[in-house]
Amino acid sequence: MTEAFDVVDVIRTKRDCQELSPEQIAWVIDAYTRGVVGDEQMAALNMAVFLNGMNRREIVDWTQAMINSGDKMSFDSLSKPTVDKHSTGGVGDKITLPLGPLVSSFGVAVPQLSGRGLGHTGGTLDKLESIPGWKAEVSNSRLMEILEDNGAVVAAAGAGLAPADKKIYALRDITATVDSIPLIASSIMSKKIAEGTSALVLDVKVGSGAFMKDLDQARELAQTMVDLGEDAGVRTRAVLSDMTIPLGRTIGNALEVREAVEVLAGGGPSDVVELTCALASDMLELAGMPDADVAAALQDGRAMDSWRAMISAQGGDPDAALPQAQHTHDICASQDGYITKLDALALGVGSWRLGAGRARKEDPVQATAGIEIHTGYGEKVSRGQKIVTLHTDTPDRFERAMEVITAGIDIGMEKPAERILIHERIY
Ligand code: URA
Repeated sequence: MTEAFDVVDVIRTKRDCQELSPEQIAWVIDAYTRGVVGDEQMAALNMAVFLNGMNRREIVDWTQAMINSGDKMSFDSLSKPTVDKHSTGGVGDKITLPLGPLVSSFGVAVPQLSGRGLGHTGGTLDKLESIPGWKAEVSNSRLMEILEDNGAVVAAAGAGLAPADKKIYALRDITATVDSIPLIASSIMSKKIAEGTSALVLDVKVGSGAFMKDLDQARELAQTMVDLGEDAGVRTRAVLSDMTIPLGRTIGNALEVREAVEVLAGGGPSDVVELTCALASDMLELAGMPDADVAAALQDGRAMDSWRAMISAQGGDPDAALPQAQHTHDICASQDGYITKLDALALGVGSWRLGAGRARKEDPVQATAGIEIHTGYGEKVSRGQKIVTLHTDTPDRFERAMEVITAGIDIGMEKPAERILIHERIY
């Protein structure tokens, strides 16, 4: 087959800060998926995009080319509206776990097709896999059945959904080209648009533990994604939320499931409850229910019933005990004062070093590894009081984890400023 372009010309165009044509973009994404363009060439093009950016038209074309590389799903045959949520990834971010059942308890379908965690933020599938018997793989016909009956599903995205993104994301991960706004926006939105949800709420994280370290960058990423979604006919909005401090009191797979169940039982840490309720209200508003009382559904057991049905539908036992680490180690306060720093990135990397995350996509994760926070940001501590407990099945990991975690915690004499959890919404 004669190829329409020479890949070296395409790379040179972006290297020299020129605009890529729609035809060049469609061809290069397709040719890379077919294996005609090599990894080293796509890596060079990604780096040129990372350094020189893409304009709105190029981002739309790049996203569309990735959607065209695979299957498109449709939920049109369901009798209910669909609404999905995507988080750009945060430390201790277990919000998906209570959120899907909470929203589906109002008669809305929430099809969350997810990937596995890479790096310090952990993946939703890894968290749910700590529940005995639960399986992430669900056939398309079963997915539709569960959505119709119960409404909430968290499942592994099939290999057919935006395969170009899978290949390009794996390459970005090993070539320092992940944290680029056009590449992140097109990667996330190609999968969400191909998935076929009719509405989408994006939780764009801001701060040390997130891709976007400051509010301006997060705003730009959020607006780019909202525009991509709306242009493709998906009602889309974004919430910018804090990720300088971990969410909740736990980081790590089984530990986070435990905390999510506390929220579904009407308790749990206030930041997890606040963000879950805010995102649920946004999702239900997009689904046509602006007055839904989401806090009541957490208190009266409706969300918990929906969680139990969701876990059972995928082979899990919602009553089974969660696994516990064989080894723990406490880090205690060296002086009296207030916790003035509890750095999300440091604790995320620490949890990953304890075994909760993976370095390569084929690595296993420990269900039990992670961190429990006893004394949160802004709280008072006395010398000798426990701040965090580290959990792992492999105690030789404690030393390297402690190095990064202790550097991420500060105690000061003055109570620090209150955390702002939700910065703003982008429509
Ligand atoms: N999540 C994705 O799916 N893609 C990115 O590029 C970053 C986060």
